[in-house]
Amino acid sequence: MEPIKILDNIYWVGAVDYDIRDFHGYLTPKGSTYNAYLIVDDKITLIDSVKHGFEEELLSRVAKIVDPKKIDQVVSNHAEMDHSGGIPEIMKVIGLDKPVYASKLGVQNLAAQFQGAGLNLKEVSDKLSLGKQELQFVETRMIHWPDSMFSFLPNVGVLFSQDGFGLHLASPQRFDDQLGEDVWGPLALNYFANILTLYAAPIGKILEKAVSSGLVAQTKIICPDHGLIWRKNPGRILELYSQWVQQKPKNKAVIVFDTMWHSTEFMARELTDSLSTLGVETRYQSLKNTHRSQVVTECYEAAAIIVGSPTINNQMFPSVADFLHYAKGLKFQNKIGGAFGSYGWSGEAPKLVQAELKTMGYELPHPEVRYRFVPLEKDLGPVRELGKAIAEAIKKVV
Ligand code: FEO
Repeated sequence: MEPIKILDNIYWVGAVDYDIRDFHGYLTPKGSTYNAYLIVDDKITLIDSVKHGFEEELLSRVAKIVDPKKIDQVVSNHAEMDHSGGIPEIMKVIGLDKPVYASKLGVQNLAAQFQGAGLNLKEVSDKLSLGKQELQFVETRMIHWPDSMFSFLPNVGVLFSQDGFGLHLASPQRFDDQLGEDVWGPLALNYFANILTLYAAPIGKILEKAVSSGLVAQTKIICPDHGLIWRKNPGRILELYSQWVQQKPKNKAVIVFDTMWHSTEFMARELTDSLSTLGVETRYQSLKNTHRSQVVTECYEAAAIIVGSPTINNQMFPSVADFLHYAKGLKFQNKIGGAFGSYGWSGEAPKLVQAELKTMGYELPHPEVRYRFVPLEKDLGPVRELGKAIAEAIKKVV
């Protein structure tokens, strides 16, 4: 377990989780990393920690640089368990008397999470001396928890951004120059869509403030708590975040559905063809084989989300309800919606989907479309009309 040198006296000492696939309901097909960093100065400082179970990996990497007992202080930028879960065990090695610094809300959260652990929790002021250099702290509330903060080393321009600018990828590569944007770009968008969409507006304000305060201009390297360290071109991930927070719709529609006996699927295929013929980029997303977190990534930049469901027990299909529940929590902005589905006798599902999309604030340019039992191709005119209405609504906003 080797540390990775970032600059003289600054190291990555985190852990690689090749096996995690479910990250609180979000599919992580390529695993993840829990990034932690060691700064060797007069006061040796550990920035963030790892998930519980990975403490030995962190301590092993640290031991290649210094005896872990020589760590003087820990800074916890974010209290979520994937970064703080290892703190109690690590502090037993480092020394429970050593301070663990966090934001005011971070101290409260860590105290509530680790009752009885005997941690010496301390609230940060705006800076912390390490000896020859100092760490500055920037409150980043709601990126993506209330306790979240960035730590910044101004003399070398290194920003420790906790979850901000992260992505989920377990690999031996630690830096953006070791992988192409064709690899990391989709992972970064997947991460933003699932973790940060709900907070796009506050993130936009924090980015604006970071620009106006000069923080962005001073930043040479960004060290997030997941995925790659941005050392070659930190401006690129900042640029992407500046775009993503705007949630500007693209000429793209996601057709997301589940099906019982293939009739709703038949409608989804016709809708996909219709929209493509009308010049809209389409994504056909069957919930039978596509995870909700992958669907919302496709939805992120799409102008329209059209949802299909058969009716079962007077309700929408469970997988469709699951998707809508997840998407509702993310509070996408600027979306056009539509609903469709087949049914046997009662046929509530498309109405329920349409009503839910309305509750979510989506523009609905066409009533829901539904068929009893199995439609023939000649019956699909209303599906094509739905596609036409969606395409026309998209044209008005892109
Ligand atoms: Fe990676 Fe919010 O924890």
